[in-house]
Formats: sequence, structure tokens, C-alpha cells
Amino acid sequence: MNYQNILSETQGAVAIITINRPKKLNALNRETIQELHEAFNEANEDDAIKVIIVTGSGDKAFVAGADISEFANYSVKEGKNLAAKGQALLFDFIENLSTPVIAAINGFALGGGLELAMACHFRVASDNAKMGLPEVSLGVIPGYGGTQRLPQLIGKGRAMEMIMTASMIDAETACSYGLVNHVKKQEELISFCQNISAKILRNSTVAIGAAIKAINANFKDGINGFDIEIKQFGKCFGTEDFAEGTTAFLQKRKADFPGNRD
Ligand code: COA
Repeated sequence: MNYQNILSETQGAVAIITINRPKKLNALNRETIQELHEAFNEANEDDAIKVIIVTGSGDKAFVAGADISEFANYSVKEGKNLAAKGQALLFDFIENLSTPVIAAINGFALGGGLELAMACHFRVASDNAKMGLPEVSLGVIPGYGGTQRLPQLIGKGRAMEMIMTASMIDAETACSYGLVNHVKKQEELISFCQNISAKILRNSTVAIGAAIKAINANFKDGINGFDIEIKQFGKCFGTEDFAEGTTAFLQKRKADFPGNRD
């Protein structure tokens, strides 16, 4: 598909989606959010794609936030719609994909940028990355899930402080908080994410999709995560991947998961 604001490429079983508005530090306008939705959907629907990496173009920013110029004059109703539509199209959408999504944070991840990274299944940052939710400095609050996902990832007290002070934290601090899993030199960021992808690719994609559902269930209101785990665990027993995985183990050979074939 032809996109104006993003780049989408595949390298083997890995799709790399790059937000490509470097002059605006990759800020998320409506068009970019729509294009990201389409690119993530396309990659998730493609049986040959097993992992998605999302990053920003240039060496300065992952995403410096939602595009402030677009919503500066919005009304209460428009503001509410902006958050609701964005959450449905992109942030919740990514979190609930069955294909693993890694955020490669290559610079500023602010506001909607950090919210995008937090909606991904996990995050790796470059050593120059800076992260924050500065919305209260603009007189608004995070609207793409930031008030929910930041405390889930780093705890309530740290999230309160980051949001109230609108300050940025560096990559090492983010790693010590558990916001990112690893910190790498910028030039090694994507290859490091590809190495993690290679480890993921050895395992059953069907089982990984079930694990994502069960893990996410822990964070959904009114849903008992343990019940979802039992259901997903049971479902695995009916899959060809389970038959192959257990047989391969008992035969002391490497599994060739049917679910991983295109
Ligand atoms: N929305 C719209 N445009 C943005 C943007 C955003 N969130 N973040 C950066 N830009 C634009 C700037 O307006 C500027 O455009 P211009 O060259 O046409 O004037 C361009 O990107 C470069 O940004 P600039 O501010 O000149 O870079 P900097 O290195 O001096 O500062 C930041 C970098 C990230 C500290 C600064 O851009 C910033 O604070 N951005 C907003 C962060 C934010 O509040 N995000 C939350 C939004 S809800």
C-alpha cells in the first residue's frame, strides 16, 4: 500500500513500520494514525509476518506526540472523539494484535509517542531516547491510554510524578523503571530488535497469540485473567502446534510448527 506518512517494509518474517514525518519529529496527525492502523492490520493479517517492529524515522525522535497543531482549537466533543477514535484505531488495536509488536524507541517518545510505545507488547530504547507524558504542560491529560498504561508498567507513584511534572526521563531511568526492557546504542537498535524477533520466531506463533490474550486479560476491567488463561491454555491442546511441539520435544528434535508456515 502507498502511504504518505509512514514506511512499511518486510525483512523475512519481520515487518518494520517507520513513522516518517521527521521534520515534525514524527508527530501523530490523524492521517498518520489511520495509515498506522492500516499498516498494522495488513502486517497482522499476513501469515508470513510473525513479528512487527515500529520505530521513527531520523535519529532524533520516535514520535514527539500527537500533532498539537491539529487539535489546538478542538471543542470538548472533538477532544473526546479524538481520544476515543485514536484509542480504538491504533492504541488498543496494537495491544490486542496476535502478532508480537516491539517498539524500537529511537529518540523522543513524548505524549502520544510514549503512549504508542506503551501500547506495543514491549519496548527497546536507544541510549539517546527521552520519554515523557508532557500533556499537563499543555493544559490537557494523556488521551491515548497513557494514564492507564504508564501506571501498569512503572507503578502508580512514578506515573503520577511523571504525568504531574511533565518531565522526561532518559533511557537508563526508563529501563530501571521497567518501561523499556533494554537500552542499546542507536545504530544497534533495530538489529537488536531483529535478534529478539529471531528468538520469538523459534516458538509457536499460535501459542504466542494465546499468551498475548491471556497476559492482556490481566489488565482488562471485569475480566478474570486466570479464567482467560485456563481457556487459552486448553485451546492450545487442540492445535497442531501443540502436537508438533510436544512430539518434537519427545523425539529430541527441533519443532517445525505448522502455525509458523506461511
Ligand atoms: N506536534 C506538532 N508538531 C511538533 C510536535 C508535536 N507534538 N513536536 C514537535 N513538532 C514540530 C515542531 O513544531 C517543529 O516544527 P517547525 O520546524 O515547523 O517549527 C519541529 O517539529 C521540530 O521541533 P522543535 O521543537 O523545533 O525541536 P526541538 O529539538 O527544539 O525540541 C521537543 C524537541 C520534542 C522537545 C519539542 O519539539 C517538543 O516539546 N515537542 C512537543 C512535545 C509534546 O508536548 N508532546 C505531547 C503532545 S500531546
